[in-house]
Amino acid sequence: MIKTAILTISDKGSRGEREDKSSEAIRKVLEKIDTEVTAYEIVPDEKDLISKKLISLSQTTDLVLTTGGTGVAPRDVTPEATRAVIDKELPGFGEAMRMESFKITPFAIGSRAIAGIRGATLIVNLPGSPKAVSECLEIVLKTIPHTVNLIKGKVEECGGGEKLKK
Ligand code: MTE
Repeated sequence: MIKTAILTISDKGSRGEREDKSSEAIRKVLEKIDTEVTAYEIVPDEKDLISKKLISLSQTTDLVLTTGGTGVAPRDVTPEATRAVIDKELPGFGEAMRMESFKITPFAIGSRAIAGIRGATLIVNLPGSPKAVSECLEIVLKTIPHTVNLIKGKVEECGGGEKLKK
């Protein structure tokens, strides 16, 4: 089972001015793989605060999924906050999400989401709207268990991935 944290990044959400439907969307998609959401936090779009939360959440979980703050608005700093705390970047996650999402909406080009590894934890940025977060998580979902196991040194062979495409 993959211990998972959800970190919602939203100025309005953190002030209680907007219901956090995006974390609910994440929980729904996660039901398709063997995960347990063990932590959930909501923070405003403040780089240092986001980085601090990523550090603490990654100490107790295998996977941290962020939602929001990946775009080009002045307050969007989630990729920068993530880059500041990861040991290794995993560009494939952002590339795959943008490539597939671009087929759904051209606005997907505006998401700067990244992913990376901190210690033994996978961190993945997802966009903010419930629709976008569901679509993007679905795109990378099947790769998450394998990637988490690789990060933990539990996988010796990488074969069989093509079966996941079906
Ligand atoms: N990706 C998918 N699959 N579907 C979407 O509707 N919306 C885009 C993009 N990625 C979208 C998407 C839009 S409109 C924006 S502004 C960016 O994600 C960044 O979103 P964020 O700033 O809320 O993280």
